[in-house]
Amino acid sequence: MLNKENVYEVLKDVIYFPKGDNIIALNMVENLMVKDNQIRFDLVVDQLGDPKNDILVNGAKRTLAEVFGEVEVDIKLKEQETALSKVKHIIAVASGKGGVGKSTVAANLAVALARANQRVGLIDADIYGPSVPMMFGVQDEQPACFEKDGKTVMLPIEKYGIKLLSIGCFVDTDRPLIWRGPMATSALNQLMNDTLWGELDWMVVDMPPGTGDIQLTLAQQYQVSGAVIVTTPQKVAFADVLRAAMMFKEEALQIPIYGLVENMAYFTPSDMPDKKYYIFGKETGQRFADQLGVPLLGQIPIVEKIAECGDNGTPLALDADSPVTQAFNQIALSILNAKF
Ligand SMILES: Nc1ncnc2c1ncn2[C@@H]1O[C@H](COP(=O)(O)OP(=O)(O)OP(=O)(O)O)[C@@H](O)[C@H]1O
Ligand SMILES: [Mg+2]
Repeated sequence: MLNKENVYEVLKDVIYFPKGDNIIALNMVENLMVKDNQIRFDLVVDQLGDPKNDILVNGAKRTLAEVFGEVEVDIKLKEQETALSKVKHIIAVASGKGGVGKSTVAANLAVALARANQRVGLIDADIYGPSVPMMFGVQDEQPACFEKDGKTVMLPIEKYGIKLLSIGCFVDTDRPLIWRGPMATSALNQLMNDTLWGELDWMVVDMPPGTGDIQLTLAQQYQVSGAVIVTTPQKVAFADVLRAAMMFKEEALQIPIYGLVENMAYFTPSDMPDKKYYIFGKETGQRFADQLGVPLLGQIPIVEKIAECGDNGTPLALDADSPVTQAFNQIALSILNAKF
């Protein structure tokens, strides 16, 4: 007889081979309705557009037809919700070199995007020295944890309208560096997958320096929309930056580059805010960008206040009057208008 209970029983014979179990046991069937000669349900899959879905749908229809004969079967595919399924873009702020201002750029870019009415998250993925918590003045806060569907999930910390989480919450930074590496990738996965990020337009990831495990994990396991590469105008910095940029561009990863940010591009003394001293040459950033074949997104001056604001938990881009803010607004705008 055609009723809901019997349809459930029959669907237990439909096996989803990649996971080695039937679609009822795998919780793939939702909103089952049986009416007159009609069977309707949603089939929850990992990814829409996967050819395996069609095989499964056909298998289910065939199995139902074998038992119930001439019935109308309507199966709607629905993508499985993950912690990141409502995150539109992941953006990696990277550089081959330490100390060039990645964290400063990531924090201020997040602020600038938020001011442009975007919903923004910021992940500190630097196991060697998490700095985002201090830049936002939340170093003493811990993300809230609770149980959901038998799993421990976290709620990011919120500051200035930005959702924040640091790898420092998971990796014991008192431990020697050699122990941190293996923990890092699993900590990153936890940050990404076991956190209630909710709806975000942008998730900005502050990367550690270099081209290590964290970079590979992020690039290979997540849909990164693009990278922002940070450099300073010195040639020594650029050699490393070039290597990092090549890594993202490489065929295996194929992550587009939004462009280059030249940090510490010129010096502006605090008592002469209109002066610009280009210590390493005015065109250096543009030349580097040309060599990489990417746009120069912006030039950030050396200003004492950036470092001060970083230390006291108020990113300078929050100050509407600062010329640094304008530079970051411009960078945010270029990213919002990027054509990929
Ligand atoms: N434009 C700037 N003007 C003045 N100080 C700056 C500027 N950019 C960064 N700094 C300072 O330089 C130091 C290094 O910056 P930051 O931590 O952002 O670099 P990083 O590339 O993230 O470093 P790491 O590789 O250690 O993660 C910080 O003390 C920061 O406040
Ligand atoms: Mg940093």
